[in-house]
Amino acid sequence: MEKFNRYLVTAALPYANGPVHIGHLAGCYLPSDIYVRYLRARKMDVKFVCGTDEHGVPITIKAMQENVSPQDIVDKYYAVIRDSFAAMGISFDIFSRTSRQIHHETAADFFKVMYDKGLFEERESEQYFDEIKQVFLADRYIIGTCPKCGNDRAYGDQCERCGSSLSPDELINPRSALSDAVPVKRKTKHWYMPLQQYEPWLKQWILEEHKEWKNNVFGQCKSWLDNGLQSRAMTRDSNWGIKVPLPDAEGKVLYVWFDAPIGYISATKELTDNWADYWCKEDTRLVHFIGKDNIVFHCIIFPAMLKGHGNFIVPDNVPANEFLNIEGEKVSTSRNWAVWVHDYIQDFPDQQDVLRYVLCSTAPETKDNDFTWKDFQDRNNNELVANLGNFVNRTMVLMHKLCGGKVPPMHAAVKDAADDAIFAMLQDAKLKISENLETYRFRDALSEVMNVAREGNRYLQEKQPWILAKTPELQQQNQQAIDNCLHVCLQLTANLAIFLNPFLPFTAQKICHMLKVVDKMLDWENAGSMKLVSVGYSLRPPELLFKKVEDEQVAAQVEKLHAGLKKSAAAAATAAAPVPEAKPAKAEIQYDDFAKLDLRAGTITHAEKVPKADKLLKLTVDLGSEQRTVVSGIAEHFAPEAIIGRQVTLVANLAPRKMRGIESQGMILMAEDNGKLVFVNPDAPVAPGSGIS
Ligand code: MF3
Ligand code: ZN
Repeated sequence: MEKFNRYLVTAALPYANGPVHIGHLAGCYLPSDIYVRYLRARKMDVKFVCGTDEHGVPITIKAMQENVSPQDIVDKYYAVIRDSFAAMGISFDIFSRTSRQIHHETAADFFKVMYDKGLFEERESEQYFDEIKQVFLADRYIIGTCPKCGNDRAYGDQCERCGSSLSPDELINPRSALSDAVPVKRKTKHWYMPLQQYEPWLKQWILEEHKEWKNNVFGQCKSWLDNGLQSRAMTRDSNWGIKVPLPDAEGKVLYVWFDAPIGYISATKELTDNWADYWCKEDTRLVHFIGKDNIVFHCIIFPAMLKGHGNFIVPDNVPANEFLNIEGEKVSTSRNWAVWVHDYIQDFPDQQDVLRYVLCSTAPETKDNDFTWKDFQDRNNNELVANLGNFVNRTMVLMHKLCGGKVPPMHAAVKDAADDAIFAMLQDAKLKISENLETYRFRDALSEVMNVAREGNRYLQEKQPWILAKTPELQQQNQQAIDNCLHVCLQLTANLAIFLNPFLPFTAQKICHMLKVVDKMLDWENAGSMKLVSVGYSLRPPELLFKKVEDEQVAAQVEKLHAGLKKSAAAAATAAAPVPEAKPAKAEIQYDDFAKLDLRAGTITHAEKVPKADKLLKLTVDLGSEQRTVVSGIAEHFAPEAIIGRQVTLVANLAPRKMRGIESQGMILMAEDNGKLVFVNPDAPVAPGSGIS
């Protein structure tokens, strides 16, 4: 830490177009908060800034969807997001917004300085224009058929079904999302940053000087740099955003990814008059916490802007996390497959630390990871309740019972090796936790903290003060040993509060309250001390730190997730299409009719698109003893590569039928839910060819 005298920590500015979900927390807000709380405990000079990103296409789209103005949208979600973070204990020094005056000025100024230095290229290009709405269409506003997977609702920048990144020109049958008009090409002028000019510097700076960056971050940077950078437009045609501060720039605004990161600077300005210390002095360590989809902007484009402008430092590290999936599926805000932070706070009041704990221990630090409610329950019940809570509670209860509610003394005469071992263990833990935190390994750091609690339980179990005090006579004989044991356990509890504080601040506060110690005790320098609570001091009665999460709560949450999904699918369906008439039930059949079906489980081993047929996939299905070719009308719902390995149910005795010249030897069962197709398959894998009846 020596090189640096102050820290500026940023967390990605969330778009103010919706509430935040737990994937956001796990991705960057929780890790940054842990880091900052640790730095504060180390008495470092640190500022922690964030705010909402209120410009850009996502906001305008949301406004269109809800039929209100963009301003209404950002006002609403700014408050929701700010309150969610506050409730979860994310301790920003400032939570600003990019619509504030100070940001408009700062960003426009930044652009102007770069412009005056000649750092932009002015270029005319042809872009899609909506003649009905009389506006240029951002890539997101153009919808068409994905050339890769055939999805007919792919966006001009990305297909959300197959994940390919696209450019509007690749879309088949492009249409305007605003009016459904066929867009036309029109000339428009923009200001580009020639990123290739920054390449040598970026290569030196990242690939040579920052080899310590996380593999996922370093790897992405390297691949961008290896592939070569290109000029990128830093302005857009829109009326929502920061006006380009040049004459003749009517209808032009700064590209949202140009203005948003400058939001970090504006927020610091708003926070303190000393803002320039944090942004311009080389002895400041600037750290950007982000999710993986933000890497190029924070590692390449923004640093190039800072470098080009000239007055600013560049980040020392950009610890980006991967994504957190929910119950095995990618989070999708549009499909409402997410656990919303404001919902959690309502359903689990006063249990913020449980979520912080679970998200930190499963944080997607090196690869995508999965959140499940079952795992949430297990971690709470087995780790927080049974390990940490149990240790602290037993210590407090026993101290009240066997030591009169006061911190007992340590008697040198009966001190033993186990007592010394606890002291040594704490020194060791302190080092390991610090080291992990300083290298952004939050999961490992937290697991070291939990080890301390585990060691405490082990120690208590070994000493068994309750046995030493089985009868009043025994207790009298053993009082010194009992005192020592609880003295050690109490000091250990106080140490735990210090270690826990960055991760579980609410719990650390509760411990301080029980031990009647002041917040100052939580300073990191106190960790490892065995003199944190004073002998003879009377302490408060124990209160439980954690309570069990019950099966019903887990079931209710899983239910809620699925209900959310259905609600959004239903909303989408009613918005998009007339309500379908209920299909009449089919005529009654006899058992014999049913028994004629030869249903078998099979595994898809190969899938490809059928040429010139939008709806058809040609599949190979493994039935164990034989391979079947099946032509299935699911191409609009599944990318071929995504279904390899899936188990399906095959009607194996359906008469073969030729489709587009291919003989289809069976049919796959599908279920339909509001236009979404899912496979019907056994609920646990079975050997290919297994009969179904
Ligand atoms: N709003 C962006 C997102 O949610 C993040 C912006 S980070 C900033 O992906 F640096 F640009 F502010
Ligand atoms: Zn696609």
